[in-house]
Amino acid sequence: GHNNLNAKLVLLGDMGAGKSSLVLRFVKGQFLEFQESTIGAAFFSQTLAVNDATVKFEIWDTAGQERYHSLAPMYYRGAAAAIIVYDITTPDSFTRAKKWVQELQKQGNPNMVMALAGNKADLEDKRQVTADEARVYAEENGLFFMETSAKTAANVNDIFYEIAKRLPRA
Ligand code: GTP
Ligand code: MG
Repeated sequence: GHNNLNAKLVLLGDMGAGKSSLVLRFVKGQFLEFQESTIGAAFFSQTLAVNDATVKFEIWDTAGQERYHSLAPMYYRGAAAAIIVYDITTPDSFTRAKKWVQELQKQGNPNMVMALAGNKADLEDKRQVTADEARVYAEENGLFFMETSAKTAANVNDIFYEIAKRLPRA
């Protein structure tokens, strides 16, 4: 029906930040302590009911290793939404996340819904990026921000749900 929407969504972020783990949690409700590093990219789909509508996410889980950087435009081109993921225990991954945001601002779809995910929020004792720092950055750059944990599932469904709510309706 007219309340059904397909939305291409891409995950970007440094290797090891937890992109695949977030997707595995969202799509299958699972978590692997030894998740393998993604080669190229992986595709998943998952449907969410939001109010009176159904959003079918077509999810591209990209590879964070630097050697795959040049492939990224194939996955974010035409995407309705992006989740930029960093690891709250690794400042370099936050720096890398900001670079992805810049690239999307320059080359991405201007109406793209962008979410910043500070992942591994369960590792509070190893935290090196404060939530305040990330929240300020997100506000200044028009993203919405959540800290997530693929391990505990905290905020994982929520971030996809918030994206679904923000997608422009036809
Ligand atoms: P690439 O595919 O190389 O780009 O990495 P990725 O961003 O997909 O990271 P991946 O999901 O493979 O996770 C890397 C490691 O972090 C794995 O060992 C996961 O088990 C672990 N991990 C992912 N998310 C979390 C989390 O929320 N908490 C904790 N404690 N570990 C996590
Ligand atoms: Mg991966």
